[in-house]
Amino acid sequence: MAANKPQAGAAREQSSAPVTTMKAIVQHRYGPPDVLTLGETGIPAIGDDDVLIRVHAAGVSYPDGVITRGIPYILRLFAGLRRPRQGIRGSKVAGTVTKTGAGVTDLRPGDEVFGWCGQPGAARGGGGFAEYARCPRTMVARKPATITFAQAAALPVSGVTALQAVRDWAGVRPGQQVLVNGASGGVGSFAVQIAKALGAEVTGVCGTGHTDLVRSLGAGTVIDYTREDFTRGTRRYDVILDFPHLATHSLAGLRRALTPKEPSSPPPTPATGGSGALAASSQLAWQHHSCPTACSPRRWPRTRPIWAPSPTSSHQPSSHR
Ligand SMILES: NC(=O)c1ccc[n+]([C@@H]2O[C@H](COP(=O)([O-])OP(=O)(O)OC[C@H]3O[C@@H](n4cnc5c(N)ncnc54)[C@H](OP(=O)(O)O)[C@@H]3O)[C@@H](O)[C@H]2O)c1
Repeated sequence: MAANKPQAGAAREQSSAPVTTMKAIVQHRYGPPDVLTLGETGIPAIGDDDVLIRVHAAGVSYPDGVITRGIPYILRLFAGLRRPRQGIRGSKVAGTVTKTGAGVTDLRPGDEVFGWCGQPGAARGGGGFAEYARCPRTMVARKPATITFAQAAALPVSGVTALQAVRDWAGVRPGQQVLVNGASGGVGSFAVQIAKALGAEVTGVCGTGHTDLVRSLGAGTVIDYTREDFTRGTRRYDVILDFPHLATHSLAGLRRALTPKEPSSPPPTPATGGSGALAASSQLAWQHHSCPTACSPRRWPRTRPIWAPSPTSSHQPSSHR
């Protein structure tokens, strides 16, 4: 959803009356996508550590669909029993800062930013499908001038998931063999590009129709999962990024496809060390569909959410699923 020049809001800003309401896609009950309707609502108030941004583009992601429908029902326990407490979906936005909280000193009105919007705290995103959105300062970053608002709005969830998995948790280093299972997907397509940019030799696994796409993203080798099972081949990988929700391979199979650990390898340091912490050890970056985790073979019993803040990731949203 992109509107690089939002007309309605711009016109209203030219009038002298203070603008207190905005247009938004609102939701008053759970149900199929047509419960989302265009409406008028108040512009969100911001706290000391928030920024208010004029939304130029908003990304749609998996949680938007889930909360719109309110299924599985158990999620209503925290999202709202009869209707969602946050009546505006959308948590990935890009736009222009219009107001800053008293505690925000490094951004000012006019700055172009992108990131995650909603109440501070995990699982409380929303409010992006609107003219204005409140974002905690810690959840936004400056938008690079080289990308559009629409491109920036696509990054905050899937792009950051991939960044944390590949860079922070797997600690991918130049020359490593990295396999991304699900390489044509929302997270996998970013993971291929990030691993490649970190200097790894990337193998992407995807369906027949996406092999050219995955190759164009930087994968040196592409495996079509309908024809080949990478866990049964002879090739070994230093890092495997996998999505257990696909349930295509057993842990034992994935482990078999990892490069055997050298007996002289130093034991891995605590996972919070990020890049280099798992150096010299084969690694498995394992993502779970609702609580992504990354771990090394030596730490399988001690998996951790990859959305937890990492000391190597100081500039991006860190806990937004
Ligand atoms: N997207 C996000 O922002 C986000 C954020 C956090 C966590 N997650 C979680 O991460 C996981 C992946 O999400 P996603 O959005 O990247 O999913 P997605 O866009 O639906 O992509 C799924 C990928 O899996 C591939 N695939 C399907 N069947 C396969 C098989 N039998 N063997 C190997 N690969 C197969 C697909 O390949 P083809 O299409 O080429 O067949 C595609 O590359 C999900 O569990 C999701 O909940 C997603």
